Amino acid sequence: MKILLVGNGGREHALAWKIAQSPRLTKLYSTRGNCGIAKHAEIIDIAPSDVDGVVGFAVREQMDLVVVAPENPLAAGMIDSLNAAGIRAFGPKKSAAEIEGSKVFAKNLMKKYRIPTAEYAVFDNYDSALKYLQNSAFPIVIKAEGLALGKGVIIAQNLDEGCDALRQIMLDKAFGDAGDRIVIEEFLEGREITVLAFTDGKTIRPMPSSQDHKRVFDNDRGLNTGGMGAFSPSRIYDDGMQEYCMKRIFEPTMRALNAEGREFRGALYFGLIATKSGVKVIEYNARFGDPETQVILPRLKTDIVDIFDAVIDGKLNTQAIQWENSAVCGVIMASGGYPQQYETGKEIIGIDSAEAQGCRVFISGADTDGSGIVRTSGGRVLCVVAQGADLASARALAYKGVGAINFENMHYRKDIAIDASPNEAAAYTEIYNAENK
Ligand code: AMP
Ligand code: GLY
Repeated sequence: MKILLVGNGGREHALAWKIAQSPRLTKLYSTRGNCGIAKHAEIIDIAPSDVDGVVGFAVREQMDLVVVAPENPLAAGMIDSLNAAGIRAFGPKKSAAEIEGSKVFAKNLMKKYRIPTAEYAVFDNYDSALKYLQNSAFPIVIKAEGLALGKGVIIAQNLDEGCDALRQIMLDKAFGDAGDRIVIEEFLEGREITVLAFTDGKTIRPMPSSQDHKRVFDNDRGLNTGGMGAFSPSRIYDDGMQEYCMKRIFEPTMRALNAEGREFRGALYFGLIATKSGVKVIEYNARFGDPETQVILPRLKTDIVDIFDAVIDGKLNTQAIQWENSAVCGVIMASGGYPQQYETGKEIIGIDSAEAQGCRVFISGADTDGSGIVRTSGGRVLCVVAQGADLASARALAYKGVGAINFENMHYRKDIAIDASPNEAAAYTEIYNAENK
């Protein structure tokens, strides 16, 4: 099979690595992939967002499958265009991808189909949003409507911060058109969990749980980022919670999309929060998460190409999907300054020695220069991933790998996958066992 993978970050490196293990693959291609992806794929000079370019290449070079990983081409209808040209493609169509592309659509869907989420209100007018804020309790969460690289969410601790956020999003257009409409929602307290699921619109099969660390600094301080590290499984997501989510969130979401005529085929991302009054949805994404994918795919035993086929063909109910019973920890190493302004072009040393110690290094933003030196090219540079029998050993090995790598002004969190509150899991088990009765 000839397969084209669209996207070029750390998530795509993990996908490329997994796809390359398939005995069915003859050749893998990547849209401007980084130096990690280039180990598994031939790089073609077409941007991941270039719908016509990708479709043209897929037709001309007779791709048997195109896997579209990032949100922007999905929201732009790349899958629809590929299908219209007769190409098999993994990912949701434009109408289904709107579950990520429009927060208002997602919130209204949850409300209509009674899927648990934070209470909210929608505004397209600054004055009425301001009036609403003046009558609200804090903290409160303000979200730009459209895609903003995971950065369009502001948690306002008081009215001043709320007014600032409104001004930034609605008047100064900090996130461009994504801020024409906003959602203001209730602040939820609890532990966050990511559950990715394969779905073909008829069957939904959750992957193992994971947890992302979104804030830039240790102990969840500082600005939100695209994700500074992740681990799998979540410490609190047990069978009771999975049963609860299946019944109240995963299956209802799949059915809701069907009922709206937007059948979802692909990987659906549930950003969840376990509150004292039940698990609620914080966000949906229409794709694999980054960096969650880097810690989940190492546990997948089944040929991922078989799973892609089953999803596309609507046969997910007959497809075996097996996971290793291990734990994985992934630590992101980022450029100095990220998630704000940062420099690139710094030489990276030590990737090979981290791998020699048993880690896997997935590249997000780095490339090889003319003389073969690997240099930083993005904010999130790479993810050091380690697998172990439990989270403590995976975590210890991942940080050993991190210690072997160096580049100027690098920074990373030191508390990824740390067990901050050992009794937390038991407390949640109690709540959810009671809820399931
Ligand atoms: P989102 O892009 O919607 O996932 O939001 C980014 C991050 O903001 C989430 O991962 C949460 O940490 C936080 N967040 C979003 N919505 C809420 C909420 N209603 N209550 C508490 N935290 C939230
Ligand atoms: N890790 C969060 C995301 O992929 O959006």
